[in-house]
Amino acid sequence: MGMGYIGLPTAALLANRDYQVHGVDINQHAIDTINRGEIHIVEPELDTFVRSAVQSGSLVANIEPSEADIFMIAVPTPFHADKINERTNSPIPNVDYIVDATKQIASYIKPGNLILLESTSPVGTTDMMASVLKKEGVDIDSIFIAHSPERVLPGHIMRELIENDRVVGGINNESTKKAADFYQTFVEGEVLETTAKTAEMTKLTENSFRDVNIAFANELSILCDNMDIDVRELISLANRHPRVNVLSPGCGVGGHCISVDPWFIVDGANGKAKMIEQARRTNDYKADWVVEKIKNEALIFEKDNGRKAIIACMGLAFKPNIDDLRESPALYITQKLINDDFNVLAVEPNIKNYSGFKIVEYQDAIKRSDIIAMLVAHKEFLDLNMETQLNFCGI
Ligand SMILES: NC(=O)c1ccc[n+]([C@@H]2O[C@H](COP(=O)([O-])OP(=O)(O)OC[C@H]3O[C@@H](n4cnc5c(N)ncnc54)[C@H](O)[C@@H]3O)[C@@H](O)[C@H]2O)c1
Repeated sequence: MGMGYIGLPTAALLANRDYQVHGVDINQHAIDTINRGEIHIVEPELDTFVRSAVQSGSLVANIEPSEADIFMIAVPTPFHADKINERTNSPIPNVDYIVDATKQIASYIKPGNLILLESTSPVGTTDMMASVLKKEGVDIDSIFIAHSPERVLPGHIMRELIENDRVVGGINNESTKKAADFYQTFVEGEVLETTAKTAEMTKLTENSFRDVNIAFANELSILCDNMDIDVRELISLANRHPRVNVLSPGCGVGGHCISVDPWFIVDGANGKAKMIEQARRTNDYKADWVVEKIKNEALIFEKDNGRKAIIACMGLAFKPNIDDLRESPALYITQKLINDDFNVLAVEPNIKNYSGFKIVEYQDAIKRSDIIAMLVAHKEFLDLNMETQLNFCGI
């Protein structure tokens, strides 16, 4: 269930490993593309896997589910764009896609089936799935239900699906065992057994760990700016301590995982996830802080030169060398400057067109601009022969 960045590679891998796979998605374009043996998402090697699976008949995509031995759910888990948890003043996780997919498979489930949730989920979601199935009339004592969070890195998915260790947790011991036996059939990493809740929390912990550590670096960059200390020099000196490893600051934190999943913990924590919540807010604040820094420079330029500054915003993606704009702080910063009537040249070497504004070639933007805001450390920018050392909004 779900033929996206996680579901399709998993389906294609299994279909090349002697499983007969029925791939389901609500997106007709995705279904048609897959059934032609082609792919609708970008991921190295995925096209080869899909083509051979479809040609051999072991992968077929459809809008409707069908009967199966194993059901895997890999649908999106964003947060609600328009709802706020008033107790914690934080975004609310949206598990509607999981509920819908669970309801859709209910009438196809038979005794002995294994139901696997792979979507990154708030703690308790696997148990909630079991309740949904029970309400739909499924005898949940006759089936196995488990969670195994996916931790692959886009760009390396086909390799990491096999090589990474897998955490597997069922709603009971039998479910854990059944799910672990299944993953053992294609995972070369270790398959680690636990409970459903611990498996859910493991994934959220991994992403929160990254968020908290990046927030520390981002906070340092703001403090150092006030104290007129070069944060990069500071961090490289501190990291000479044998047990210290401070990460690099940037213009915020983006992507659909690290900037989203920690909120799943905060939402369910009744105000007790203080550090995780503060890290999220610090990383979000860093983007606003960068906007203010750029605006100040632009206003100083205008005062000195009697005209508005032209600002090059270098990079829009949420991390270097990709075209993914989801939750990107660089995109947020650029859009905010444009909305506030600043004169912006937006640069993103990995994207040709963007619906919100015009994308400018980076060489052109550098020639024409008065202020260059290095937002994302794309390889093209690292190769530029600039007079000053590049800083990428560590500032
Ligand atoms: N992409 C990653 O790098 C990554 C890594 C680890 C974990 N995850 C997690 O995996 C989950 C899926 O992420 P993704 O990147 O594959 O998302 P995605 O948006 O690429 O794909 C999800 C697919 O599910 C489909 N879908 C939605 N509702 C459906 C339904 N009821 N039935 C069938 N299909 C349905 C959508 O049309 C879409 O094609 C999320 O929880 C995400 O956080 C993603």
